Amino acid sequence: MSDNILVLYGSYRSDRMGIRLADFLLNRLSARGAAPELIDAQAVGLPMLDRMYKEYPKGAAPPAMEALAEKIRRADAFLFVAGEYNWGPQPGLKNLTDHFLEEWFWRPAAIASYSAGRFSGARAGLVWHGILSEMGMAVISSQLAVGPIADTLDERGEPIGKPGEALARAFPRFADDLAWWTEAARAQRARRAPPY
Ligand SMILES: Cc1cc2nc3c(=O)[nH]c(=O)nc-3n(C[C@H](O)[C@H](O)[C@H](O)COP(=O)(O)O)c2cc1C
Repeated sequence: MSDNILVLYGSYRSDRMGIRLADFLLNRLSARGAAPELIDAQAVGLPMLDRMYKEYPKGAAPPAMEALAEKIRRADAFLFVAGEYNWGPQPGLKNLTDHFLEEWFWRPAAIASYSAGRFSGARAGLVWHGILSEMGMAVISSQLAVGPIADTLDERGEPIGKPGEALARAFPRFADDLAWWTEAARAQRARRAPPY
């Protein structure tokens, strides 16, 4: 059974760079036999948070929110592509994430951070770790940190130069970690229904 992994990315900038990392992750996960799907917050286009998904009467949530809720419920794992704005998360991805809560529960989540500089979005990655734990995901300990992103991945998300080589070397262990926890969580959900 292929792992159904949502790859979530949330920059709304015209000249956004993180889509390179999202593409890299989608390509490499597919090559391993997983079934990843990009959730591009800009394309989904949820409004700024007013009502959470669960606060709508059944069947009354906007169609994009309803469709995304279903995808989150069906997913085996989540991979957050975390850019860094002023040492923190990007608002587009945070806004999308906050619309849901129980829909995220009982699955593993991984974080791949990036930035324009050498700190590679590590500070945003750290903040996301706490956010995702609070939201009921089991955050795996492996993390990718990519920077400077422009020196690491080309426009097609292919690794370039020494930083690209380092990312390509780091990816398999990161993906192995996520795959192990994905399998473990799936088996446990089948063995015993989540308690709430
Ligand atoms: C509002 C804003 C704040 C930023 N803050 C940081 C920062 O704190 N640390 C950092 O390394 N890069 C920072 N950057 C640079 C981003 O890492 C870089 O623009 C990156 O490409 C953003 O991701 P995106 O292109 O996918 O939107 C910031 C960029 C913007 C637009």
